[in-house]
Amino acid sequence: MSFRRILVTSALPYANGPIHLGHLVEYIQTDIWVRFQRLMGHRCVYVCADDTHGTAIMMRARQENTDEVSLINATQLQHMDDFSAFDVQFDHYGSTNSPANRELCGEIWRALRSSGMIREKEVTQLYDPQEKVFLADRFVKGTCPSCRAPDQYGDNCDKCGATYSPTDLIDPISALSGARPELRSASHLFVELEKLHAFLDQWTQEGDHLQAEVANYLKGHFLGQPLRDWDVSRPSPYFGFEIPDSPGNYWYVWFDAPIGYMAATKEWCEREKEDFDQWWKNPDTEIHHFIGKDITYFHTLFWPGMLKVAGFQLPTKIHIHGFLTVGGEKMSKSKGTFVRAATYLEHLDPAYLRYYYASKLGPRLEDLDLGLDEFVNRVNAELQNKVINLASRSARFLEASGLSVRYPEDGGRFEKGAQVGLEIAACYEQCDYGRAIRLIMELADEANAFVDLRAPWKLKKDPQQAQELQDVCTIAVNLFRQLAIYLAPVVPRLAQQVGELLNDPIWSWEQARQPLTGKALRTFQHLMKPVDPTKVQAMIESSKESNAASVPVPAIADSGQPLIDEPLCEMISIDDFTKVDLRVARVLAAEEVPEARKLIKLTLGLGGDVTRTVFAGIKQAYEPSRLTGRLVIVVANLAPRQMKFGLR
Ligand code: MSP
Ligand code: ZN
Repeated sequence: MSFRRILVTSALPYANGPIHLGHLVEYIQTDIWVRFQRLMGHRCVYVCADDTHGTAIMMRARQENTDEVSLINATQLQHMDDFSAFDVQFDHYGSTNSPANRELCGEIWRALRSSGMIREKEVTQLYDPQEKVFLADRFVKGTCPSCRAPDQYGDNCDKCGATYSPTDLIDPISALSGARPELRSASHLFVELEKLHAFLDQWTQEGDHLQAEVANYLKGHFLGQPLRDWDVSRPSPYFGFEIPDSPGNYWYVWFDAPIGYMAATKEWCEREKEDFDQWWKNPDTEIHHFIGKDITYFHTLFWPGMLKVAGFQLPTKIHIHGFLTVGGEKMSKSKGTFVRAATYLEHLDPAYLRYYYASKLGPRLEDLDLGLDEFVNRVNAELQNKVINLASRSARFLEASGLSVRYPEDGGRFEKGAQVGLEIAACYEQCDYGRAIRLIMELADEANAFVDLRAPWKLKKDPQQAQELQDVCTIAVNLFRQLAIYLAPVVPRLAQQVGELLNDPIWSWEQARQPLTGKALRTFQHLMKPVDPTKVQAMIESSKESNAASVPVPAIADSGQPLIDEPLCEMISIDDFTKVDLRVARVLAAEEVPEARKLIKLTLGLGGDVTRTVFAGIKQAYEPSRLTGRLVIVVANLAPRQMKFGLR
């Protein structure tokens, strides 16, 4: 067997929000694949990074009165913590705001320029004169030109489904400031993708780089007509990299984001003293990207185009998955089904989610549903009752004797398990984890039937049957170990515990072909607890709270797609409400905070001689001098926090 050299990536999560259970579908899916490849003995490197540039991050930093770099640094640390808690193990986790990325962007840009693929065009866009930014479609709201429904986004109408351009809206306002936007034009740089049409036809339709349904979708939606020029620059102000030969213009976030895959590889290479060209310019290296279906377009047309022009290796395969729903619906903050990774971890074992997702993931783009009852039932019925239980029913009887010295006659059970292992491996390779899990559970059922039949707890009672007991349990433990090896990509901690129990670490798929004999066992300890349904409920409850307490930032991706459809106004529970101590206060003094764009510093009298200093983000609406003497409502028990301009 020849060993493969494989580079694997997951999409780079945006640095403007926390990791949630939807993201984890992807990172868990990818991590399972990587762990599987390593068990097979292949050289597999897994890199990722935070996606840090663009308008959404710039706006979030403004709202939080911080700068972009502090924001993205803090977010990156949180993301890394969340991933490692879920056993998603990267070889390197970088940031698109890195010197390596800037350098590679420059290199690819020069290649595009010198191949004559960049063209300059004027673009007229709505501009927010107050925030001094151009407004992406999703940052403009107004009345639908078609059905007159109020409060619609700049690209399409929720009510009648019409699509239009933001300049068609009646009475448009900026979603950022409420100001009336102006029309302004600026020159943008475009990649003439059409020049790569023939190449993209071939690359997307031949060679198995894409799932068949994706190849067909591209053919039907994009490749049947001339490809549109791709707008890859944004005028200042923009948080990103300035284009070296076009001062005042920045690369659009979707230009530098995929290059972040290469930058992360480069940083890893520098650390590990590896040769970067061996990974991105060597046709013997496989490159696998895992992404969600919402970002197909960027990865299947632009990205191969850029790589092609710049002379890098093209992806071997782009694995595209569907979206997570919870209880059959889109994740929702008000229902508590928008669960952050960190909130999940406060209540539940990450192994449960890894197992559950694996059991639901197939090779196609279908959405995947997290049913909360199903989650509890499946993890308990399968992982707990079929797998873990197999060990607790047999391993403890071997504490004194260890495993039999010779592997006993088992009616061909172990050998059959080894054979099925080939099929399970093929399923992992094709990302058909659901089928892999079904095959593993069938083996588990057979192993449990064997234990039921030979009833070691009965043998234990009869000293004459000591050898029989040892043999039966040796078989059961070996069948259990085989399952643990097959499940190792999914639940690596369990595999590690099993390695410890049997004094024989699990590190290779091949181990499932050879039974263990003659070994002493460590004292059997409980491997994993069953899922407690009350904790699932508690997680949902606290997801309602933790989101209500956060700053509402429009959930807007830079691709112009809403990340999650949510009303901006959060519902809070009565419990949240009773915690808030609202009081009427009089403004004793009000002054500008010159360094802040939004803040006014208020000194408030709360009755008697109790005073309080607060900062309010209301500069754009009020003159400080006109606030003194007014009555305001204050949250008297809001915990102070350190801000750039003082304690608030
Ligand atoms: N920053 C871009 C990717 C740039 S890659 C060069 C982005 N970020 S994201 O944070 O919005 O999403 C990261 C990945 O998570 C994407 O592949 C996305 O499809 C996936 N998911 C985000 N929400 C998801 C669900 N609810 N369900 C499944 N996957 C989801 O897109
Ligand atoms: Zn409408």
